[in-house]
Amino acid sequence: MMGGSASESAYRVLMGVLESRTGQTLSPSRIWRIEMSLKPVMQRHGIGDLDALVAALVTSNSRLLLDDTVDAMLNNETFFYREYSLFDDIAAKVLDQLREINKLRRRLTIWHCGVSTGQEAYSLAMLIAEQGEKWADWQVDIVGTDVSYHAIGRARVGLYSQFEIQRGLPVQRMVRWFDQTEGGWLAKADLRRRIDFSVQNMLTDRPPLASSADLIFCRNLLLYFSAPMREKAFARLRAMAAPQSFLVLGAGETVLGQTDQFVASPRLRGLYEPADQQVRRAAA
Ligand SMILES: C[S@@+](CC[C@H](N)C(=O)[O-])C[C@H]1O[C@@H](n2cnc3c(N)ncnc32)[C@H](O)[C@@H]1O
Repeated sequence: MMGGSASESAYRVLMGVLESRTGQTLSPSRIWRIEMSLKPVMQRHGIGDLDALVAALVTSNSRLLLDDTVDAMLNNETFFYREYSLFDDIAAKVLDQLREINKLRRRLTIWHCGVSTGQEAYSLAMLIAEQGEKWADWQVDIVGTDVSYHAIGRARVGLYSQFEIQRGLPVQRMVRWFDQTEGGWLAKADLRRRIDFSVQNMLTDRPPLASSADLIFCRNLLLYFSAPMREKAFARLRAMAAPQSFLVLGAGETVLGQTDQFVASPRLRGLYEPADQQVRRAAA
């Protein structure tokens, strides 16, 4: 038995659906939780158990059921200022480097790939907004994308529960940038308007960026790709990266032994740069 009470083939079908739709593979600990994750979906669609869910997926051709099922199996874990020291470095060094690199065109494009419910993009948008005058005559585009339509729906609304708002967000920022409402803490319009959120599968869809990205966040999502999918993902990130740009990965992620598209940045510890950018610099 792979998980709980359902047949082994049901688990295999569900894992196959998840991988073909998103590239994600399930770690053994998450396979055990499939049944629990899918319970609300089964309840909503009036389906009794996992075997019946798989049968319905195969026979009904329901796009909604398929989207709901895939969405529920994704790991959307995120919180504000995940790895606080990284955001400190971004505020203190990375943004200055990017200002220097882009000072002639005064334009900055930031892409949060796999942004989940938005906390990562809001964290950065607050940092930039708080730098005020520095960016006054710049065009700063922040785009957040995710394959989960449910997560992106939530990111767009910008409404967080008491538990979510307290995870990583300092109280001063909470009161400055969010309003307490009956439904939870709502990002102020001035914060929400700074980010464009959209549904996108980073392995197959082009992200809705107006120009190539100067700073790309792709954190805690490559971890769950198989090696070939990860290589494909790096190639896609590279295709969207500006010649002089930086890539930010999650704390447990690296490019070492995974890809030759990016290398560790010699300028900014913990960040990555397109590999050909360094070759060009060395040749100059
Ligand atoms: C664990 S969350 C990480 C969220 C955030 N980046 C962070 O580090 O806090 C991973 C996110 O990647 C998204 N994801 C998984 N596969 C994806 C794909 N192929 N394209 C875009 N997003 C994907 C998931 O839906 C999920 O919201």
